[in-house]
Amino acid sequence: MSLFNLAVLISGSGTNLQAVIDAVSDGRLPNTKIALVVSSRSGAYGIERAKKHGIANIVVDRSNVDKLPEILRFHNIKGIILAGYLTILPPDVVSAYEGKIINIHPALLPKFGGKGFYGIKVHQAVIESGDKQSGATAHIVDCGIDTGPTLVQGILSVQNKDTAESLQKKVLEVEHIVLVEAIRALVKGEIDILINNPKTIRMDKGDL
Ligand code: GRF
Repeated sequence: MSLFNLAVLISGSGTNLQAVIDAVSDGRLPNTKIALVVSSRSGAYGIERAKKHGIANIVVDRSNVDKLPEILRFHNIKGIILAGYLTILPPDVVSAYEGKIINIHPALLPKFGGKGFYGIKVHQAVIESGDKQSGATAHIVDCGIDTGPTLVQGILSVQNKDTAESLQKKVLEVEHIVLVEAIRALVKGEIDILINNPKTIRMDKGDL
């Protein structure tokens, strides 16, 4: 059986990429290969992670994003993981990979998502809102921003002492768990099962 080739699209430190690399190597993601890492920034540490694991890697930003479809075809990509990628995907990529593009967002969508909600801004908004829960959402990418159907959510409690920074740190660990769960369903062809019945994982009580 041929492996399910993933492209992981990043722009920063690549801890979500590392979580997927680790899950592939320790068997939690069978039949899966990270065939390509695409960064929207040349200085992203995630590129170093790819190099360390012998994974093909390339910088694709606004200036050459029109080349993305050809690059994905060349690497026989079957699924795309957005892990912080900061360039909007061309509509022809979204339609060519419909139902096979997963994004990881550091909040409980649909709250605190959409234009302008990325990075520390998300957690600042959660803290300012006074919400007592936050977490991470893995969802299918559609033509909107953070608007595709939810697949998996990891939920944790926001403590009174939490700051945007401390919340970001806790949520990032949840992202790693949630993302691997969603990718497992993608590789097994079970995305529709999750779309119809999204998985929720409680992450409190020392799970982290
Ligand atoms: C994560 O917070 C993710 O939710 C967001 O971008 C960040 C990527 O972090 N989409 P990393 O590069 O995977 O560490």
